Amino acid sequence: MGEVSYNVSDISAPVLLEPGHSFDSFDCGKPAIDRWLLERARKAHATYGARVFVACIKTQVVAYYSLSNASIKKTDVPTRAKKDMRVNPVPATLIGQFGIDRRLAGQGVGRSLAQDALQRAFRLARESGSALILVDALDDEARAFWEKFGFQPTKISDYKLYLRVIDLEATYASL
Ligand SMILES: CC(C)(COP(=O)(O)OP(=O)(O)OC[C@H]1O[C@@H](n2cnc3c(N)ncnc32)[C@H](O)[C@@H]1OP(=O)(O)O)[C@@H](O)C(=O)NCCC(=O)NCCS
Repeated sequence: MGEVSYNVSDISAPVLLEPGHSFDSFDCGKPAIDRWLLERARKAHATYGARVFVACIKTQVVAYYSLSNASIKKTDVPTRAKKDMRVNPVPATLIGQFGIDRRLAGQGVGRSLAQDALQRAFRLARESGSALILVDALDDEARAFWEKFGFQPTKISDYKLYLRVIDLEATYASL
């Protein structure tokens, strides 16, 4: 039997994970991210440890990300960003997991999903303070992907990246 193929035009806008969504065959090419969806997403979502957003074709999840509240010590924020941070630890929003099914790779789905996550994080920050968006890049490829959106390394590691919420204002404030 041949591999299932997906069309970008069939993908629905991201929504909160629901019991009817299925993801048994989700494969983003990074086992850790596949496994988290398979084994941990429902529990994390149900207990509010993370909220999971999924983009689907029918009920099949083809892309997902998770968001959680987080914080980072001021000393771990690079100096150029730190001067504007008034609270310690600095409140943040963490994009904890992020993956696109590899059958849809290279067609702009990752960019759209990242924009959805950033827009959502910005809306949340308007209601409950969050000065930074954090992401844990898995590897150099993931880091290169996030750098396209303006993320830069924190002092924690070259793979723990941050973006200032204030830098999203120009893009998202009017939405
Ligand atoms: C990395 C990933 C999210 C990219 O998704 P995608 O749908 O293929 O990406 P898009 O087609 O939307 O590309 C968006 C931009 O990212 C770039 N990009 C895509 N994959 C990339 C990669 N592996 N490394 C570096 N840049 C990448 C594209 O060139 C494009 O840049 P451009 O707009 O300047 O041309 C996807 O391959 C994936 O889920 N990988 C496995 C999990 C993972 O690494 N998650 C990252 C967070 S930890």
